Amino acid sequence: MKTVLRMIGLLLGLAVVANVGFVAFVAARGIPSYAPPKPALAQVLATPERLAQGEKLVLAACADCHLNRETGALSGHQLRDVTPDFGAVYASNITQDNVHGIGTWTDAELVGLLRTGIGRDGRYRVITPKFVHMSDEDVASVVAFLHADNAMAQPGPTASHPQEPSLLLKALSNTVMKPVLLPTGPVGAPTLTDAVAFGRYLLVGRYQCFECHSKDFKTNNALAPEKSDGYLGGGNKLLNAQGHEVVSRNITGDPGTGIGDWSEAQLGQALRFGRGPNGPLGAPMPKYSQLTDAEVHALYAYLQTVPKIKNATPEDGVLASK
Ligand code: HEC
Ligand code: HEC
Repeated sequence: MKTVLRMIGLLLGLAVVANVGFVAFVAARGIPSYAPPKPALAQVLATPERLAQGEKLVLAACADCHLNRETGALSGHQLRDVTPDFGAVYASNITQDNVHGIGTWTDAELVGLLRTGIGRDGRYRVITPKFVHMSDEDVASVVAFLHADNAMAQPGPTASHPQEPSLLLKALSNTVMKPVLLPTGPVGAPTLTDAVAFGRYLLVGRYQCFECHSKDFKTNNALAPEKSDGYLGGGNKLLNAQGHEVVSRNITGDPGTGIGDWSEAQLGQALRFGRGPNGPLGAPMPKYSQLTDAEVHALYAYLQTVPKIKNATPEDGVLASK
């Protein structure tokens, strides 16, 4: 991670002293393009199980960015909770509209984008998450849902807004926020009976909790999540929809600054309804209203095995002064 930090320092340093060559290079190259990923995949079979699972996953992992509250569909909107340092970022229309949405994308093209961040035209979509460790079955469920007959995915004729990336985002997309390669083999998920392993899968693969709950997006490690700086120790400075800073919280078992003293039932309340034992939880923490009891149990079991980090986040200070 030191290398990454040094790289960011170097980049910022270069930008600050306005190294004309580098800045000109980044400005001209912009967000890079690559060869479009071509996963070996035939059409996904849309079974009833996959459609139900796909709906649950899209609501938990895509809707906060792609669901437009006005249209009630996945027609996208500006993401005001992305730091303005990155410029203006707009989630795309991913309804089945043939012109503005993903109506003409094949299942394999969607899987390629979801795994790597690279679109079928080769353009790198730097802000959409890369679902590196999501199981093939869960990815298939998402894709089946996007192509199925439901209100959220029905064609919506809203044009996707072009991105307006800042120089910093362009620089990061060429260095520390690059796309990832397609998985080289099948990606599975552990079985429910191994609660700790299944909980890790939920946290790094299915719901990507570690992305927000580690120290900083820029030092997260998509391929080896546990190597992210301050893994699950909180402190990532996020924004809510009004643009106000909300710091992610420490969810390791540290008794003073983490959630070491929480019960499994308290974790379930917090995740499903945003009700923490010490008060309500607000955006951008998603509400995982469809989490099953088995998922809560697995997340709880896994979180107890994660190395504890002592890292106070703002709410700890508030509580301490009470
Ligand atoms: C953090 C916000 C965020 C989340 C969460 C997110 N996306 Fe995105 N997504 C974006 C943004 C922003 C873009 C546009 C990026 C660009 O054009 O550079 C995008 C682009 C896409 C595209 C490309 C569409 C096109 O026409 O280029 C697809 C497909 C997509 N997302 C699907 C998904 C799915 C499916 C999920 C959930 C499994 C998801 N995204 C979760 C922000 C998000
Ligand atoms: C988009 C970013 C984001 C994602 C993804 C996310 N969280 Fe959060 N989480 C937050 C933020 C921000 C807060 C603090 C909310 C506040 O201050 O109101 C929070 C709060 C929490 C809390 C309360 C901790 C405390 O000390 O009060 C728990 C527990 C938690 N998240 C667990 C999870 C789990 C488990 C997942 C995945 C299933 C997850 N979060 C996914 C951003 C996120």
